[in-house]
Amino acid sequence: MDSTLPQKFINDYFLLRRLFVKKIVESKSVKEIRNLMYEVSPLLSPMVATYGPAGLNNAPFMLTFVPKEEYLEDILSALEAEITRPGKLSIKNVAELLLRTVYNPDIVDLSKLASHLMNKGHTYVNVKATGEATIGILIPPDKGAYELRCKAEIIEDGPIYRYVNIVHDLMHVAPHGGGGHGWCPAIIFTIKEIYDNHYKVLGKKIYP
Ligand SMILES: Cc1cc2nc3c(=O)[nH]c(=O)nc-3n(C[C@H](O)[C@H](O)[C@H](O)COP(=O)(O)O)c2cc1C
Repeated sequence: MDSTLPQKFINDYFLLRRLFVKKIVESKSVKEIRNLMYEVSPLLSPMVATYGPAGLNNAPFMLTFVPKEEYLEDILSALEAEITRPGKLSIKNVAELLLRTVYNPDIVDLSKLASHLMNKGHTYVNVKATGEATIGILIPPDKGAYELRCKAEIIEDGPIYRYVNIVHDLMHVAPHGGGGHGWCPAIIFTIKEIYDNHYKVLGKKIYP
């Protein structure tokens, strides 16, 4: 995994999220998966703060990791092949696929995170105007916290737009069957600075 990001942040955030996906693959019951989801939810949906014409804003968004540019088309083809295959994917099938792609340390660009915007609300308006956002991540239960100051960009077509919407459909549509709510603009965050907000560290800048 080649990244200039601090190893502690990679361990606490990327590798911990990866571990939960691995636990889903190995889980024995739906109840076990449900309990894992409760445990991991602050990691999956951190708070995203923005400023701009829509005012100061803070809202949770489900964030995903993003493949390095050179792998993006291959990953997209692999995910598209799975999602268009007839029949329902189980949550375990999805988790296995995510481990090989979205959570593959050899493939992801750890300096980026992405989500999609189901409404053109405060976050959309602010990011369009300022191109900035701050992500606040709690490592549960009180293991730590990180503040990621990011460049933020709304993307409404192209490979990243397809990637973010396919990952969303894999998580939220494929295991349940039925239709989704249509594709939405993607938002991509590029980490510019990281602050360690652990209560023993108290906001020290750890990156760059
Ligand atoms: C756990 C959780 C995860 C969420 N994830 C998303 C998401 O991935 N995309 C999204 O558009 N809204 C998501 N929302 C809803 C947004 O936080 C928010 O309510 C809505 O998009 C309005 O945001 P605004 O403040 O930008 O107007 C989520 C809400 C919760 C509670």
